[in-house]
Amino acid sequence: MLVLGIETSCDETAVGIVEDRTTMRANVIASQVELHAPYGGVVPEVAARAHLEQLQPTIDEALRVSGITLQDVDAVAVTSGPGLAGALLVGVAGAKALALALERPLIGVNHLRAHVEVAQLEHGLLEPPLLALVVSGGHTSIVRLDIDGGFHQLGSTLDDAAGEAFDKIARFLGLGYPGGPRIDALAREGDPTAHDYPRPMLDQPGYDVSLSGLKTAVVRDLRRLEAAGTDVVLPDVAASFQEAIVDVLVARTVAAAVTEELGTVVLAGGVAANSRLRERMTAACAEADVRLIVPSIRLCTDNGAMVAATGANRFAAGLYSPLDIVADPGLGLDEPVQLARVP
Ligand code: KG4
Ligand code: ZN
Repeated sequence: MLVLGIETSCDETAVGIVEDRTTMRANVIASQVELHAPYGGVVPEVAARAHLEQLQPTIDEALRVSGITLQDVDAVAVTSGPGLAGALLVGVAGAKALALALERPLIGVNHLRAHVEVAQLEHGLLEPPLLALVVSGGHTSIVRLDIDGGFHQLGSTLDDAAGEAFDKIARFLGLGYPGGPRIDALAREGDPTAHDYPRPMLDQPGYDVSLSGLKTAVVRDLRRLEAAGTDVVLPDVAASFQEAIVDVLVARTVAAAVTEELGTVVLAGGVAANSRLRERMTAACAEADVRLIVPSIRLCTDNGAMVAATGANRFAAGLYSPLDIVADPGLGLDEPVQLARVP
């Protein structure tokens, strides 16, 4: 069974091909980083236009890499939400056209769930119940995956997403876009104890997090130091800020796993590429005797293989989407995409 997956929710035009749910045959990404870099962030109109130009060549390249033709594809999966409306539309329209022309089922995929389910390509099919930390540019959620395949949100950010906090602080420090990887790299040369930034909400019950206070504290601290004429060591600021976010995410996730008696944690989403988060989560889960599943970095950030893998799961369960499925920019992690059973 071969499923082709299309991802255009943000700034990567990506196409993956997955065989039998767990074998990745292709994972091609046409990155738009250079197009958006001059603006310091993703420009929605620029993203949609680039997806339009790149979608067909990216599909062709994925077919070439996997050594198959379009006729070999058994189902077409596509991210139908959440994401940028115009960007999603390009992928959804392209996938519909492909499914119609090939007379194959179309499968709409929830991008956030795909970040979690992609783990099966390297670690085998996930065995719920388990816990996932989904940390991306727009989302920060602690979720329980139930045996019936449902996603139940236990906690989320009350304000900024983790990736958003990384990107905003990177912009403030003049590091440019994309911010997360730049802070990660700079922090390696810094002292994480140099600045004592707050770890918001850790003294409160539950699994929600709040990151905007931390961001404000960093900005205020830097302005104070600059006003006092003190030299600011950027790697120290990056390392201290990163350490504070990582502390919050690791503490909340491990507490949720232990309290909810879930023996496995999946780390998912673009921020899961962060080297310090991977290191600290590995140590904390080992100490709490919890199994940790971490996809490799190229499968943490947006890619097409995650969409193909998730589509393959739905296809194997006999599910598909009607051809009038619409892009849903605000789709939540615990909302399933509209699916019907194959008649
Ligand atoms: O999942 P993703 O690729 O796209 C969305 O669905 O949003 O996540 C992108 C986010 C961006 O905010 C980016 O700065 C962040 O993931 N990110 C990182 C790292 N790599 C990507 N944040 C921290 N450290 C990294 N190494
Ligand atoms: Zn994503």
